Amino acid sequence: MGPDPVDAQRRAAAEQAVARVQQGMVLGFGTGRAAARALEALAHRQRTEGLSIRGIPSSRATEERARTLALPLTTLEAHPELDATIDGADEVDPSCHLLKGGGGALLREKVLAAASHRLLIVVESAKLVPHLGATRGVPLEVLPFAAPACVRHLRSMGGTPQLRCGPGGAPAVNENGNWVLDCTFERHVFEDPAALDRGLRSIPGILETGLFWSFRPIVFAGAPEGVRTLGA
Ligand code: A5P
Repeated sequence: MGPDPVDAQRRAAAEQAVARVQQGMVLGFGTGRAAARALEALAHRQRTEGLSIRGIPSSRATEERARTLALPLTTLEAHPELDATIDGADEVDPSCHLLKGGGGALLREKVLAAASHRLLIVVESAKLVPHLGATRGVPLEVLPFAAPACVRHLRSMGGTPQLRCGPGGAPAVNENGNWVLDCTFERHVFEDPAALDRGLRSIPGILETGLFWSFRPIVFAGAPEGVRTLGA
């Protein structure tokens, strides 16, 4: 089997994002395949250029990957303010609003993004969409106790929520001990992602949404013809 062309797009985009990283920076490390490619690119610069950085992982999988690559880790206790977070995304709209949380780490990812001066997003070109919600529902991290009430509220606001389940059919529990609802809405609802986010967060028991609309990220989008840079 030859190399995966989509992964090659992620890798090329990750290399360009990581080229923005400077000596001594403290970084947030996102979760998922694109974030993993970014960790590899950081490890390469560490080995070949002596780049010295520290990172705060957004998930156990990312923490393990960083340890395997000998990337130094730190904590929000030590560094409540970060230079940048490098992460992937599930969707990027033309205004560089993002949908995230396909890997279930949305709350920790948003905490790191909000603590960072800069958000660097690595995607393959298939993630560029005309509007958020074009390919999937909005991931919502919910308190398990509150899930049935959240489902009712979401239906009453026109959403179609679906509980994310593991391979055995039981609810998938994320690293915060919470569940994820993926909620689809009609297209017009996404015209104002800030209002949608506000409405969703006003439902008691919804702890975070996958709508990342306020961050002004720099997006590195890998494509067969090269990497496009979008945003701030
Ligand atoms: C993890 O919770 C997500 O926000 C990921 O950043 C997103 O799902 C993209 O993942 P991939 O890079 O694996 O597509």
